[in-house]
Amino acid sequence: MEVIAGIRGLRERRELMRGGVGLVPTMGNLHQGHLALVRAAREECANVVATIFVNPTQFAPSEDFESYPRTFDEDVAQLERAGVDVVFAPATAEMYPRGRQGLTTVSVPALADTLCGAARPGHFDGVATVVAKLLHLAAPHRAFFGEKDWQQLALIRAMVRDLDIATEIVGVPTVRAADGLALSSRNQYLTPAERELAPRIHRKLCDVRDAIDAGARDFGQLEADAAGELRAAGFAVDYVAVRDAERLVEPEPNTRSLRVLAAARLGGARLIDNIGADIAVGA
Ligand code: PAJ
Repeated sequence: MEVIAGIRGLRERRELMRGGVGLVPTMGNLHQGHLALVRAAREECANVVATIFVNPTQFAPSEDFESYPRTFDEDVAQLERAGVDVVFAPATAEMYPRGRQGLTTVSVPALADTLCGAARPGHFDGVATVVAKLLHLAAPHRAFFGEKDWQQLALIRAMVRDLDIATEIVGVPTVRAADGLALSSRNQYLTPAERELAPRIHRKLCDVRDAIDAGARDFGQLEADAAGELRAAGFAVDYVAVRDAERLVEPEPNTRSLRVLAAARLGGARLIDNIGADIAVGA
């Protein structure tokens, strides 16, 4: 496995690759969720490139960019064991040599301002821009993203479609702890007591899905009930939302594929999760 820090080095190495190329972008501090993406890429692609870059442009000044956990040596060892061919790990100055001021930015307004985008202005412009850069640099046939960050996945799919980027975006199911909590680098911000409480988010999402399966169609009521119960349990809820799975708009009468999404703060951690809910034709 090669670790490459420079854009030129990555481009030269990319030129030498024969067969399919799979890209797995990450911010490091890897866990089994990230490794599921690597495994999917390993199964489908002759060459696997993983990236480790804590992207400053997707963090607001008040957020955890400085304190975001950085575990580079362990990450590289895990990627090597998982059979990755190339790790691209650029410094901030390599990705943004002219700084952030006046930077050309990719934005996907239809998906960037709702849900997590409402609480994190500018966040998804930062994500779209860095992912567009990584897709251009690695020119992969396929790029792998987790369903855990459903809005991010939907936004990247829309960006690739709108900009005619020749990469197939592959979504990988969320990897969870045994108690249902979605694995996340930010879970380590939880105290033991908060960690006990955290799986309730997933359980509430399952309750909403089960209610929809059983025929409930007053989504506003389902959202309000679930948010109220999470608040009563001690969460600071940003949203619980039932949305069209692809466009993330409120469901229309003919919407069949739904996503139930939630974001809530618990102590120092902002937790997000989502699950699918489908309405059968005629139901
Ligand atoms: P990061 O949070 O490191 O996540 C990297 C990838 O791992 C994302 O596609 C994310 O959805 C996926 N992932 C994280 N936890 C997961 C879990 N429990 N199950 C399945 N997949 C999981 O997301 C980012 O970094 C950044 O925004 C990035 C796309 C790299 C752009 O900077």
